[in-house]
Amino acid sequence: EKNGYDHFMLKEIYEQPNVIKDTYRGRLHANEGIIKMAGVEDNLQKFLNAERILIIACGTSWHAGLVAEYILEEFTRIPVEVEYASEFRYRNPIIRPNDVVIAISQSGETADTLAAIKLAKEHGAFVFGVCNVVGSSISRETHAGAYTHAGPEIGVASTKAFTTQITVLTLIALRLAQAKGTMSKSDFHRHLQELELIPAKVQEALQTNEVAKAIAAVYKDAPNCLYLGRGYNFPVALEGALKLKEISYIHAEGYPAAEMKHGPIALIDEQMPVVVIAPKQEHYDKVVSNIQEIKSRSGKIIAVVTQGDEQVKALADHVIEVPYTIDALSPLLTTIPLQLLSYHIAVMRNCNVDQPRNLAKSVTVE
Ligand code: M6R
Repeated sequence: EKNGYDHFMLKEIYEQPNVIKDTYRGRLHANEGIIKMAGVEDNLQKFLNAERILIIACGTSWHAGLVAEYILEEFTRIPVEVEYASEFRYRNPIIRPNDVVIAISQSGETADTLAAIKLAKEHGAFVFGVCNVVGSSISRETHAGAYTHAGPEIGVASTKAFTTQITVLTLIALRLAQAKGTMSKSDFHRHLQELELIPAKVQEALQTNEVAKAIAAVYKDAPNCLYLGRGYNFPVALEGALKLKEISYIHAEGYPAAEMKHGPIALIDEQMPVVVIAPKQEHYDKVVSNIQEIKSRSGKIIAVVTQGDEQVKALADHVIEVPYTIDALSPLLTTIPLQLLSYHIAVMRNCNVDQPRNLAKSVTVE
């Protein structure tokens, strides 16, 4: 059932072009300029009246929530807050009847997320679920929802669940932006069309596998690793670090690139690999200066760049090139080589890739 792949994780990484397509099939009609999602349409007024959107999740799903925060606020101008379900449920949170809560969970069984949903419902909020597992507890406990249609994810390290969660949340953001009139018609169409190109571009991003493997061989024994990104790619840095730590047991941290000078820069020396997500988009120049700061302290730079990039290539020790897409969709591409990098490092360290120590696929206890 691994379909010829050595591990489920690798198989699931490679499934991403197809499952992203499955996620938007029947929902995205780029030529007609239509997004159709029953769970959103049936509750459109609740979304449009939302004074605030609260996103609750754990782990990788929480990272997808952070990407969605940037996308939802940019597209719809609705204020968004993203919370760890475990913190939310125990801190007497402010939940108002006009809040829309979006709970994100691959398994649909995460205990803290489930408890946070129950709490939000008790306070009268409308709760929308983004789950992968059909019929799961969270999908039953929420008022409405949208499935990610990623198919079973067996590897403990979440990969295709993450990219399909982002896809669903992007569709929701675009539909709300259309209904609210917060995005110009031309931008709306451009995003729809670009979203339709994503599976082919993910396919291309998967061709970085050999480069990722070669870089893995150089850094597999590193005790630490930093991941930096800005804007839409800041959560990708967090996700890249989580993926590395959970399957290879290398200590890794993700940061917004500009936060480096507020502390983490002290860690940089010639031993420290720093993965910088630096696609050609807004903040590019700022990321380039962050790279210069790392370089002047002899840090080893592994940069994820847009195909054809010259500026970062001249500075970095290694570059991984992904296709160009519009800013908001770039996490769907920049994530791919980071998944591959972690995978190869874990394999080279003889780690149990699909079932890392101390971890379970569904965390059904708090
Ligand atoms: O099933 P969920 O999406 O609710 O799970 C949340 C986390 O437990 C999960 O994403 C975890 O962090 C993964 N091992 C990350 O790869």
